[in-house]
Amino acid sequence: MRISVAGTGYVGLVTGVCLAEIGHQVRCVDIDEKKVDLLNNGVSPIYEPGLEDLMKKNVQSGRLSFTADSRTAYGESEIIFIAVGTPEKEDGSADLTYVEAAAVQIAEQIQNDVIIVVKSTVPVGTNEHILQIVKQYKAPSIHAEVASNPEFLREGSAIHDTFHGDRIVIGSSSPFAGDKLEEIYKPLGIPVVRTDIRSAEMIKYAANAFLATKISFINEIANICEKLGADIEDVAEGIGKDARIGSQFLKAGIGYGGSCFPKDTKALVQLAGNVQHKFDLLNSVITVNNRQPLKLIESAKKHLGSLEGKKIALLGLAFKPNTDDVREAASLVIAKELVKEGAVVTGYDPIALDEARKVLKESITYCDTIAEAITDADAAFIVTEWDEVRTFPMNLYQEKMNTPILIDGRNIYPLRDIPEWMTYVSVGRKEVIK
Ligand code: UGA
Repeated sequence: MRISVAGTGYVGLVTGVCLAEIGHQVRCVDIDEKKVDLLNNGVSPIYEPGLEDLMKKNVQSGRLSFTADSRTAYGESEIIFIAVGTPEKEDGSADLTYVEAAAVQIAEQIQNDVIIVVKSTVPVGTNEHILQIVKQYKAPSIHAEVASNPEFLREGSAIHDTFHGDRIVIGSSSPFAGDKLEEIYKPLGIPVVRTDIRSAEMIKYAANAFLATKISFINEIANICEKLGADIEDVAEGIGKDARIGSQFLKAGIGYGGSCFPKDTKALVQLAGNVQHKFDLLNSVITVNNRQPLKLIESAKKHLGSLEGKKIALLGLAFKPNTDDVREAASLVIAKELVKEGAVVTGYDPIALDEARKVLKESITYCDTIAEAITDADAAFIVTEWDEVRTFPMNLYQEKMNTPILIDGRNIYPLRDIPEWMTYVSVGRKEVIK
């Protein structure tokens, strides 16, 4: 099928590449000509394991191309995916400027009947609004439908998730559009959930809100475990074995970050508020999540007293491993708070240093190795559970640090592995004090 994708950000790029891989003819549209050239040369603007190889392969096979010529791309397409960003507005609601602009451009440039598929995460009711825009700007003789097809990819495992997803959600107002989309995804062999458009839009927010709720729930249980002398890792295992609860997303730590959960939870609270529903549960999830990263700082103060002039190393700056994304990362909150407390902060990350620097500027020192970051440190915080952090030789903490205090926001070590010379504080478990 001839497909165009509007937007070559994270979702658009992965969607375009994977649709080409399963045999479709895909053109990804972006206004930035320089970026288009790089993409056509197989260079990915984002770090995502496996993405570049798949990009190169499909560009070479002629199934995938990138273009700034939207008129030709949209003009020749049967299906057009909208995968542009919906950033957070100041009041927490979703900013639809890019989605609306894409809809106007598509409507003005289509030459044949099309299905416009909204992949961007948009508030319930937006697809209908987009259809109105399309109707207003398209030529009267052209038939255009709008369908909702939210995505459930995780950064860092997006390619794997596309080919092994749990479900594909298709919300349409006509069987024609729904059937067509189902046909597109058929080679993936993933179960399809067909709904009306509003339900599909809601599924995306509800899924992210539920996962965020699981995380805040387990973090609160961890906070209580700490006080009562129970162990959160055992508790999570014990409840997760109940199939009704499930073991995933029960990893306690410093809370969720990234470009999705923080934004989508706030947007859903707003959305509920618009229909006079106060979403108390989700508000609490957000409050718990905002508090969680600050625990590391409280632990540091408990063991070091005032942090004024103390050297603290942050190990990992990305919001999770396998990405260079620092959007809403706990590292940013922690770094800013430490600097406010007068600490001298060093930071290490295998790939997110440049992204972190854009936000934190010169307020912290960026290091090329873990060893460099912890040299003479009074405490080290494990912020992102990179393999490189997990496998870092323990004895080097003793050798390099001023005082070997490890404050682990991701519970990466079993307590039995902690050497007797180390003070080790984690989340929801007993402290190990040297
Ligand atoms: C999330 C969802 O998992 C995807 O299904 C969804 O498509 C995506 O948002 C989106 O809306 O685009 P992502 O933000 O890439 O994906 O990352 P996750 O792996 O879900 O992790 C989010 C955050 O939760 C991370 O900061 C992670 O450290 C934290 N987390 C996750 C925990 O603290 N505990 C857990 O048990 C799991």
